[in-house]
Amino acid sequence: MSTYRAPRGTRDLLPGERPAWRHLADVARGLSDAYGYREIETPLFELAEVFERGVGPVTDIVEKELFRIQPRTDDGEIWALRPEGTAGIVRAYVQHGMQTWPQPVKLMLLGPMFRYDRPQAGRYRQFWQWDVEAIGDAGPAVDAEIVELGLRFYREAGLEDVEVLVNSIGDPGCRPAYIDELSAFYRRHEATLPPLERQRLESNPLRLLDSKDPAVAHLNDDAPRITDRLCDACAEHFAEVRAHLDALGVEHRVEPRLVRGLDYYTRTAFEYYRRGREGQQQALGGGGRYDGLTELLGGRPTPGIGFALGLDRVVLALAETGAELPVEKPPIAVVVGADPGATAERLRVATDLRAEGLRVRADLAVRKLGRQLEAAAKEGAHFAIILGDELADGHVQLRDLQGATQKIMDIDDLPALLLRKSQDG
Ligand code: HAM
Repeated sequence: MSTYRAPRGTRDLLPGERPAWRHLADVARGLSDAYGYREIETPLFELAEVFERGVGPVTDIVEKELFRIQPRTDDGEIWALRPEGTAGIVRAYVQHGMQTWPQPVKLMLLGPMFRYDRPQAGRYRQFWQWDVEAIGDAGPAVDAEIVELGLRFYREAGLEDVEVLVNSIGDPGCRPAYIDELSAFYRRHEATLPPLERQRLESNPLRLLDSKDPAVAHLNDDAPRITDRLCDACAEHFAEVRAHLDALGVEHRVEPRLVRGLDYYTRTAFEYYRRGREGQQQALGGGGRYDGLTELLGGRPTPGIGFALGLDRVVLALAETGAELPVEKPPIAVVVGADPGATAERLRVATDLRAEGLRVRADLAVRKLGRQLEAAAKEGAHFAIILGDELADGHVQLRDLQGATQKIMDIDDLPALLLRKSQDG
């Protein structure tokens, strides 16, 4: 039994699982190209302040879930592993003067994020997101473009039943009055609130709207709705986002209680779910507009919008729907030999074939031909290339492991034949 295990909330993604992940990354990269999102990479850790200011000091992510890195000296900087991509990307936008680039600057990032949350199904301490951001466009058309892009991703990834919930959470002009009204509403029912929600009422009353506590959920049926309290500009923006979604034929459901757990959002907010699975930890992805974030991180006021899709949850959902996941491809051929000790020969033939672009393994174990052939068949290789005495005059035996036939052939004819067979699948 091994003594060491991967830390709780993390896991090893073993070779057999990787093709499914690679497929998702390929779909994400392909769509990023098609929609004009250019790839960026930011450090896996940043000054903790980037997240504290960006995501917000009284969010779960900052209060409970930041992996802070202990400074190495007393006056050292305090860093944190990135819990999400947006704050770091906007930090990079400001740092590199991207406001002087043609706007909007459309960026995408594919990589791991870290949140110190209680692990459970679909909730990990290290998880992967595909994040896209369009910075420098106030919308509303780009909002619809991004919402549609997310849906397109799920469809191409193989999930058919994903729907999007949309909302507008107003802006610093109209939201404060709404929050006052909401606080007053909850205060009238304070006695029925559980202790955690009572605390939230003081720090961030909006969070009560997506509370999973049954008592609060029941109360929320009568809570004032932000969609009825938007200022004219926000209401018009939201109506236009919806009109653009309609123009694209994108079905969407308005959910007035959708507020998202990060402070930087203004106006458009959205989340993706599998139909009928809007429970806790089930969001496949989410995003929204953050028109104040660039300024908050030291840049000029610049609007922005983006989303992050949780790839771990997509892999889980695909497995659950029984979708056929991509699998590892075996080599087209394995080079084996009658003389167990002639490993240099086998290695040389395999190296030459690989130089032709073929996926070929050499059996480098010093073992009998029968064992080498067994291993090749078990691996699922289509052919075994058997080296024997005839190699001296440039010939090999080619055994079709699937058709159980064997023929002698000129070694120079191998690449063309194997390439053809590789392309046949
Ligand atoms: P978020 O809603 O915190 O948004 O995360 C987006 C998605 O990441 C979630 O819907 C979920 O699928 C996945 N996710 C989050 N936490 C975990 C976890 N512990 N385990 C597995 N999956 C998880 C953001 O991160 C924003 N930065 C999105 C954004 C981009 N907004 C604007 N631009």
